[in-house]
Amino acid sequence: MMYSRIIGTGSYLPQKIVTNNDLEKMVDTTDEWIVERTGIKQRHIVAEGETASSMGIVAARNAIEAAGIKNNEIDLIIAATTTPDKVLPGAACLMQEGLDLPGVPAFDISAACAGFVYSISVADQFIRSGMYRTILVVGAEALTCLVDWEDRSTCVLFGDGAGAVLFQASKEPGIVSTHLHADGRYKDILTVSSGLPTQYKKDDPPYIRMKGREVFKFAVTALGDVIDETLAHNNMSRGDIDWLVPHQANQRIIAALAKRLDISMDRVILTLEDQGNTSAASVPLALDLAIRDGRVQRGDKLLLEAIGGGFTWASALVVY
Ligand code: UT7
Repeated sequence: MMYSRIIGTGSYLPQKIVTNNDLEKMVDTTDEWIVERTGIKQRHIVAEGETASSMGIVAARNAIEAAGIKNNEIDLIIAATTTPDKVLPGAACLMQEGLDLPGVPAFDISAACAGFVYSISVADQFIRSGMYRTILVVGAEALTCLVDWEDRSTCVLFGDGAGAVLFQASKEPGIVSTHLHADGRYKDILTVSSGLPTQYKKDDPPYIRMKGREVFKFAVTALGDVIDETLAHNNMSRGDIDWLVPHQANQRIIAALAKRLDISMDRVILTLEDQGNTSAASVPLALDLAIRDGRVQRGDKLLLEAIGGGFTWASALVVY
């Protein structure tokens, strides 16, 4: 049995920070409201010229260094992003160029905030089938480029950054199982009107629009269900997970899921306070943080989960 084992992780966060106090000067909001309703205190924002691929390249280099492998051992690059630098080429190709890996296959996966968990599932299939040995998966988002800074219901939520994870074929676990879902009927409650110039509407510019309360309710139910599905699939009980590595959308959603998993909040990796919601980058950023600060140890059982526009949602049981 061949597993996809994590051999290195890396991160990148832009230098520029926007605090809740900064936002108080821009829209009708308060630090108190944002902290109480979301758990977010600040977020990192791309500088001019910083993009999903430029951030992803730095995160990938950090992961390569942590893994102690040579660049040319990488067989495939998958970039999870909703905010690629350009419509084409994809962010993965730009990362491939930046990492000096000509010829290595590279493609993007667009599954909104669930994109990273979707991507590691794809990587796992390639490794299990024997087609590739070493795969770089990067979650990278310049999400604030889609933010309407006059819309207080969304501009307080999002941030930018990139996280990278290198997986390699191993007899030791590994990704144990992944569980993917989507439901396009919910396409309108979290959406950007268009990505194509000829379809831009003056009265509906291409910004993130979200019906927050509906998304909240859907997220708690869907993520709770996919957590139960993951445990049942692996004949595990609620207390068997060592760490929850959740998508960082809202502290109240995460707390509800921790309760469902019957684990205390100190077994949950949180980056929300400092980073906000970085969409497809949030899970790998949290994972890298917890591996680097020593909380996550080899052999620990991790439950990764995420949900995003589409709707798409997914989970992964991973032994570190
Ligand atoms: O990553 C993809 C998945 N995304 C998510 O999972 C996000 C899910 N949704 C949420 O996290 C929450 O719904 C939000 C944080 C977006 C909003 O929190 P909420 O508790 O659901 O607030 P709400 O939308 O029900 O709004 C409550 C009140 C409203 O005022 P009224 O109608 O009660 O007078 C809003 O206008 O809060 C108001 N409000 C704000 N007030 C101050 C909305 N945004 C703000 C704000 N500052 N930034």
